This record gives sequence, structure tokens and C-alpha cells, in this order.
Amino acid sequence: MTIRNYQSTSPTLGERCYIDESAVIVGDVTLGEDASIWPLVAARGDVNHISIGARSNIQDGSVLHVSRKSVSNPNGFPLIIGNDVTVGHKCMLHGCVLGNRILVGMGAIVMDGVIVEDDVFIGAGALIPPNKRLESGYLYVGNPAVKKRPLKESETAFLKQSALNYVKLKDEYREEQA
Ligand SMILES: CC(C)(COP(=O)(O)OP(=O)(O)OC[C@H]1O[C@@H](n2cnc3c(N)ncnc32)[C@H](O)[C@@H]1OP(=O)(O)O)[C@@H](O)C(=O)NCCC(=O)NCCS
Repeated sequence: MTIRNYQSTSPTLGERCYIDESAVIVGDVTLGEDASIWPLVAARGDVNHISIGARSNIQDGSVLHVSRKSVSNPNGFPLIIGNDVTVGHKCMLHGCVLGNRILVGMGAIVMDGVIVEDDVFIGAGALIPPNKRLESGYLYVGNPAVKKRPLKESETAFLKQSALNYVKLKDEYREEQA
């Protein structure tokens, strides 16, 4: 079963979401309207919650998880993803906060406590270590990731366009299902 409860929590889906039948969504996971979840994604909202904003897409093979609350960290690390975010293939997002209009390149790893401000491009294969803050308007690449350069105008425009491309694509998939 793709969408599963965990204890008393169950996923909440916004209008017109698309979830591939091979993805697994467990527990306290909220999807905004027009969000899409592609094949073999695992999103496990058990020891904390996951929120995915409107028009955001989580591409094939990505893994989303969270860290539990503790005495030293009473909120734990939920995973919050804003609106119009593209998460490329096989990314690992763990207990971090992503703003709006962000592209997470294929295979990137974003760890607990990271905050990514709006309009950031994370290059393929980047590793963002715990508790780092990525500044709005920049490209980050590498392991560990470094601030490489300001985004070009075309790249900033692409952040929003990429999300819209995926809204269109998931609408085509939804039509096939109907
Ligand atoms: C980083 C990226 C945006 C390219 O940026 P760019 O400034 O145009 O980079 P260039 O291709 O001109 O390469 C510049 C240098 O960065 C290096 N580079 C390119 N991509 C890199 C990456 N992801 N990580 C580390 N270094 C990278 C290049 O090897 C090159 O190095 P050199 O100067 O020593 O030769 C692109 O490679 C990338 O990672 N895109 C992500 C795509 C993606 O995953 N989309 C989601 C799936 S749909």
C-alpha cells in the first residue's frame, strides 16, 4: 500500500496531488496542492512530521525522513519543504527546512538542521552538513558544499519553471490514471 498510517497519524494530500504507486508515504506527511511524488520515493513521517508545499516535486528514488524530539532538541528535526521546490532524482533530505523555489540537484544530501533560504540552486551530488544555512540567490556545489556563485537570471527563472514543468507532467500522469 502506497499511503500508510503510523500510529494515529496518516498522510494528508492537497488537491490534485500525484503519488506514483511505487512510492511509500507513511504517517505525518502533508502534501500541498499540485505536489507530485515520483517512483520509488520513500517519505516517512514517523518520529516527526514532513510537510511538502504546493507544486513541489520529489523525484524518483528520493528519501525523506526526520529526527525525533529529545531533551536537548525538544522539536527534533521535522522536514519542511516550501512551495515550487524541485527535488531531483535520488536525493536524501533529512530533518531540514527548505524555503520556496529551490532546486535540489540529483543525488544531493541535505542533513538535519539545515535551512535553505528561498531561490537557491543546489548542484548535483552536493552534501550539505548539519545546521548550515544556504543563502538566497546562490548556487552551492560540492562535498561539503560551498557557495559557488550568485545565480544567473536564467537559473532563478528556471527554479519556478522547473516546478511548473512538473505540475504539467503530473497532470498528464493523472489523466492516464483516470
Ligand atoms: C552545478 C550546475 C548547475 C552547473 O553549473 P555551471 O556553473 O553551469 O557549471 P559548469 O558546467 O560551467 O562547470 C563549472 C565547473 O563546475 C563543475 N561542476 C559542475 N557541476 C558540478 C556539481 N554538481 N558539483 C561539483 N562541481 C560541478 C564542473 O566540472 C566545472 O569544473 P571546472 O571548472 O574545474 O572544469 C549543474 O552541473 C548541476 O549540478 N545541475 C543540477 C541538475 C539537476 O540535478 N537537476 C535535477 C534533476 S531534474
